[in-house]
Amino acid sequence: MAEAGEWQLAESGPEAYEQYLVPALFAPWAERLIERVDLQKGDRVLDVGCGTGIVARYAAGVVGDDGTVVGLDVNEGMLEVARATSTEVTSAVEWRRGDAMDLPFTDGTFDVVLCQQAIQFVADPSAALREMRRVLAPYGRMAISVLRPLAFNPGYGVLADALERHIGDDAGAMMRSPFPDWEGEMLRALADDAGFRDRAVTIEISAVRYPSIEEFVRREAASSPLAGPLGSLDRDVRGTLIREIEDALGEYVDDDGIVIPLESYVLVAHR
Ligand SMILES: C[S@@+](CC[C@H](N)C(=O)[O-])C[C@H]1O[C@@H](n2cnc3c(N)ncnc32)[C@H](O)[C@@H]1O
Repeated sequence: MAEAGEWQLAESGPEAYEQYLVPALFAPWAERLIERVDLQKGDRVLDVGCGTGIVARYAAGVVGDDGTVVGLDVNEGMLEVARATSTEVTSAVEWRRGDAMDLPFTDGTFDVVLCQQAIQFVADPSAALREMRRVLAPYGRMAISVLRPLAFNPGYGVLADALERHIGDDAGAMMRSPFPDWEGEMLRALADDAGFRDRAVTIEISAVRYPSIEEFVRREAASSPLAGPLGSLDRDVRGTLIREIEDALGEYVDDDGIVIPLESYVLVAHR
């Protein structure tokens, strides 16, 4: 019988997300997102879909004791890691369970609303944007980032296709889900329809590095619900899956491992 296992990770999905994906991807993005809204000392900030909290933590470091930061997410597991990861500087962040489509705050509570790589998972993004505008004070600022379609993020298309072939349709769909088929025009329309002013959509091009293609697959899967299915995959099948990705992405392998280009939209607007 072929062997499985050995790829199971001790961490939970949210712990793996914080350990692997945050330093590689979400932390550098968070710094840039915060720059886009010119965050100031004393600002009151809401981080929607905060996950394990990287945007809220950076924001807390900027707004200082006179400001406030709330991190909101539907997923209690992500919030638990956010709480556990808080440092002395960021212990003042309030971590709150809630839905982006029905924000549990009164009108005009915040100066800044941030939402990094979460709007694509919300069932009704228009409702979420209306809510974000509602909780902003007059002249409040908003910044949202969302990955561009897979056509602009080919490394992840290769990974999703391989997962689909060897694990199943759901696995492929899961790996594609962060890359909605949205054009910049759609983001502009979302902002306009929600009543935002001065909106601007820009394209941000970055890259993620992993020490090898095997680690690319393992860490991405570990940080998602695919940890179980991939970890228990027959070892030979897993070897085939990795070889296929190596064949497809060989051009991105260098002496430091693999580098994968990534493109996102960033939408910035005022209330
Ligand atoms: C890819 S993670 C991004 C997390 C975080 N913003 C970051 O940059 O690391 C997406 C997050 O959106 C959250 N999310 C999905 N739908 C949501 C909703 N309707 N309301 C609030 N959070 C939601 C998920 O639970 C998840 O933590």
